Amino acid sequence: MNRVRVGALLSGRGSNLQALLDAAQAPDCPYQIVLAISNKPGVQGLERAAAAGVPTAVLPHRDFTGREAFEQAMTAKLEAAGAELVAQAGFMRVVTGRFVTRWRDRLVNIHPSLLPAFPGLDTHARALEAGVKLHGCTVHLVRETVDRGPILGQAAVPVLPDDDTETLAARVLEAEHRLYPLCLSLLAAGHVRVEGEAAHVESPGKPLPLLINPAGSDTSASDVAAS
Ligand code: GAR
Repeated sequence: MNRVRVGALLSGRGSNLQALLDAAQAPDCPYQIVLAISNKPGVQGLERAAAAGVPTAVLPHRDFTGREAFEQAMTAKLEAAGAELVAQAGFMRVVTGRFVTRWRDRLVNIHPSLLPAFPGLDTHARALEAGVKLHGCTVHLVRETVDRGPILGQAAVPVLPDDDTETLAARVLEAEHRLYPLCLSLLAAGHVRVEGEAAHVESPGKPLPLLINPAGSDTSASDVAAS
């Protein structure tokens, strides 16, 4: 099988990269990770890539004269590795329109919220503050506007009454690790069609009919005893 070649961009821990690498072990996985680029030296994500036998590159963004020079260096590395798709996996740099255009519809990001809610940073704290009852993560194609772009998939988790940012982040991260390999596989296998700002995705599974939080015994209002 000819697997689609994916370059990964990261800035830190790399647990999402690990999930992508683990899924790529399956013989029928439609993608392979061919390069991991970090804008930060010495991060755990680089070790994870190296341990999986994936070539790594460090491109500290501050070493470049500007964002475009930094991105040109990334593109040169990605091209040299024959990357066809680029997966941002905890990559904490905003990319320019030029980079987005170069990799249009082939540049993917994972974000820790149910977009378009909570773009940007501190998503878990903001979700708790807003009192949302469902939170989660989104895999989307990257566009010029930060954390916007055709959505390939989302995973929702409940926000529980005694959650703090750590417990909520951990629950979302587990969902991220399931969602990202699935979405990248669907894209690599050609199951995504982009129309304007929406992505149409053919999913192999059966969707859940409903996800409700808080949960009643049968989510029926008459089951709730007065207190
Ligand atoms: C993940 O939660 C990812 O969704 C988030 O950073 C974390 C990286 O963890 N990404 C962003 O916030 C991008 N805006 P990881 O390095 O362990 O994958």
